[in-house]
Amino acid sequence: MENNERVIIFDTTLRDGEQSPGASMTKEDKITVARGLDALGVDVIEAGFPVSNQKDFEVFKIISKELNAQLCGLARCVEKDIEVAWSAVKEAKNPRIHAFLATSDIHLKHKLGISREEALSRIKKQVAYAKSLCQNIEFSAEDASRTDPEFLKLAFRTAIESGATTLNIPDTVGYSQPKEFGRIVESIAQMKEVRENKVNISVHCHDDLGLATANSLEGILSGAAQIECTINGIGERAGNTALEEVVMALMTRKDFYKKSTGIVTEQLVPMSRLVSEKTSMIVQKNKSVVGANAFAHESGVHQHGVIMHNQNYEIMSAASVGAKSKIVLGKLSGKHAVEEFLKSKGIPATEEVVKNALEAIKGAEKNVEMEEVVLRLAEKAGTYFPKKVLI
Ligand code: KIV
Ligand code: ZN
Repeated sequence: MENNERVIIFDTTLRDGEQSPGASMTKEDKITVARGLDALGVDVIEAGFPVSNQKDFEVFKIISKELNAQLCGLARCVEKDIEVAWSAVKEAKNPRIHAFLATSDIHLKHKLGISREEALSRIKKQVAYAKSLCQNIEFSAEDASRTDPEFLKLAFRTAIESGATTLNIPDTVGYSQPKEFGRIVESIAQMKEVRENKVNISVHCHDDLGLATANSLEGILSGAAQIECTINGIGERAGNTALEEVVMALMTRKDFYKKSTGIVTEQLVPMSRLVSEKTSMIVQKNKSVVGANAFAHESGVHQHGVIMHNQNYEIMSAASVGAKSKIVLGKLSGKHAVEEFLKSKGIPATEEVVKNALEAIKGAEKNVEMEEVVLRLAEKAGTYFPKKVLI
């Protein structure tokens, strides 16, 4: 991939994300999330696995005509799956069929019970069948990172010969290490057939060792054009690459990656909240980019630093992701934070209130409702008059 080129953001919140244990969405939820993803500016929406259930199929039918993003349906390398996936996406402005087959010996032997020869023959036949229906075909070699490198190339060569336009390299079980994954991606991106046919390389990483974002970014540095990811990083087991993380890494470190995306980053936090609500999957407070603490500062040194200049402790602005930077009053907070808090409430930061507040803060065993405590002190000092609720 050339410098400054746009990275293709392929969102699979509605497919791999919904495969998270405990994260199921109703048909209406999926439609709302699909619309949100489109407004967020993702390039491809994988809205489900059409053959697997009627609900997914109906969602595809409802959203297919209204999306600006490409609409993608997942299929095993099985004729029926491909037929149903095509039927689900065919009315979209820009439809894509995503066919996958495992290529690692462990999956071939212990999951599918087929030989490498049989795998190649299925890829050849089913990718060609998909191509007879749709121009835009993605082929994924499931468990690519644990596949014999020469066989992986053979599988991808076969997929290209049958018409694949995107080759996806999944680290299905989150096993790969960044440098190692980068080498796999590079070896595929450098294949003669890939370059001659201008096939896009994609990466799809899982987070079992917490490396999904690092591996995806390494994939970009090694020649991938597309990242597959989900909002809040939801997905099978420990999840998938988090969309908000890769997008903000590419943006914040544009000097390093020299790439861009089409994401409206101000929508990242609202989208995170929406997916959390619809899937009932809580976002951990310290989650990168979208967690409640991602722009919160509690220790006195950090609070003073942020009040002086937000870049002292914030590498991206809270507003750029649709969040607000906050100073949280807690046992490590200092004078500046108390003054700032009082100011934010329109309360004069008198010497007496600030002194009493600091004493209360330092004396507290735990961070319980510090802001409430400070408000009560201001009220006692006659500098704050809470609105009375009239019953
Ligand atoms: O993790 C995986 O290998 C997948 C494929 C279907 C792309 O989700
Ligand atoms: Zn996956």
